[in-house]
Amino acid sequence: MRYIKIEDAKPGMCLAYNMYDTDGHTLICNGSVLSEFYIRRLSDYGFDGVYITDELSEDIQIDPVITPELRAEGLVGVRESNIDGCKTVAKKIVEQVLDRGVLSLDLTDLRSFDSYTYAHSVNVAVICCVIGFGLNLNSEELEQVVTAGLLHDLGKLVIPREILNKPSRLTSEEYDLMKTHSTLSYELIKERWDISANVKAAVLYHHENVDGSGYPDGKEGYQTSFFTKILHAADVYDALVSKRPYKNPYSPYEACEYLMGAGGIMFDSKVVEALMLCVPFYPKGTQVKLSDGREGIIVENSGMRNLRPLLRLLDGTTLDLQEHENFKITILHETNETVHDPIAGEADRKKMLTPSRRYRIMAIDNMLIHLQTLRGFLHNMYDLRLLTSVDQALLYLKRQTEPDLIILSLDIPGTNGIEAAEKIQGIVGDLVPILFVIDTNDKSVIARCRKAGAAGYIVRPYKPTYVKAEIKRILTGQQVTH
Ligand SMILES: [Fe+2]
Repeated sequence: MRYIKIEDAKPGMCLAYNMYDTDGHTLICNGSVLSEFYIRRLSDYGFDGVYITDELSEDIQIDPVITPELRAEGLVGVRESNIDGCKTVAKKIVEQVLDRGVLSLDLTDLRSFDSYTYAHSVNVAVICCVIGFGLNLNSEELEQVVTAGLLHDLGKLVIPREILNKPSRLTSEEYDLMKTHSTLSYELIKERWDISANVKAAVLYHHENVDGSGYPDGKEGYQTSFFTKILHAADVYDALVSKRPYKNPYSPYEACEYLMGAGGIMFDSKVVEALMLCVPFYPKGTQVKLSDGREGIIVENSGMRNLRPLLRLLDGTTLDLQEHENFKITILHETNETVHDPIAGEADRKKMLTPSRRYRIMAIDNMLIHLQTLRGFLHNMYDLRLLTSVDQALLYLKRQTEPDLIILSLDIPGTNGIEAAEKIQGIVGDLVPILFVIDTNDKSVIARCRKAGAAGYIVRPYKPTYVKAEIKRILTGQQVTH
């Protein structure tokens, strides 16, 4: 079997995996032949892709972590906020994972836009279980972390759908309302004597970052439990790899890059390491493109093959990338930089009427190599102004229109980064957000950044995916987890 994007599905193709609707009912069975009608319906439902089987892929076996039936049962439990049902499902998830000894998340979870919150909760529960299994938690602990995964977003079910699925930036009132969901989830379970304090705390604090920048209470890493940290990483990982009305999915590799980039900032580094061990960068059955233009399907990716998998090319021949290390591999999917807009027609029309403007970013760093690195991965998307001193920047800001964002290195020798930020704000006010680049993930440094009104900070050495996501978050207000 292999995974194809819904837009590549053709009538006559044979489905290799059941498709479910929001109620957990089977929409189309494994073994069905796709028709024009089915494909249109699946696309309308918002499915990103389907598993099919054909001559090229019939021997590729992809094992789900849990059975599709159990996944559907979880979907219904979450949708109905049935806490007892969720507890039963949590038990079964742990049993299935322990039985199979599954340590890999190869199979992409197929979900529609409408079922996002429920499907997300079930998948987060499964990811929590696999991470926990990798971290040698015992079955009782696994059951707790899985239960927390199933229950963590119940509070979202009372948030209006227009806000949950809003394709554009949330207003601050909407964002504040959105942020109440973890507390609302907690309210639903706090009186239950049969749910442990560990589960309750993980549900309440699943949006807390280890640097204290999360919500609802701004707790730091040492104040939250290991369960909370596992749930937090699993939640964001699943949000990143999902297709949403306002974004295309990240590939597993990009999502891992993001999490690694935010290790020690948002996430616990040990948890990120454990997650990376169970995430196949190139999942089995995925179609990829090589740097020489050839395309193929991932046949084997375990262990050392995670980065250099075994491929079946479209002509049926096999290519072992461990023996051809000079090829670059790209998963065939739209990049996460293209924001999918459900009202694209209207947006396109407006775009044609208004001259497009790229965001302008000013980066200040005395090290040319750092500026060049930023230019390397940002120049395609933004208008960049790269400056090697704060004085140059001040001069520029006095004479030219202000940029949309300033990236400021905190450690330019001979300059106090915080004072520099104040001087910059003296010219541009606090309308231009400042993203600090720091060299050490040190609490006092972070506190200084916050005091200076930082819109965010990134720690060197950084991962491009994380920097890009931070910039996008600041410029557009789009959060990675909704
Ligand atoms: Fe959440």
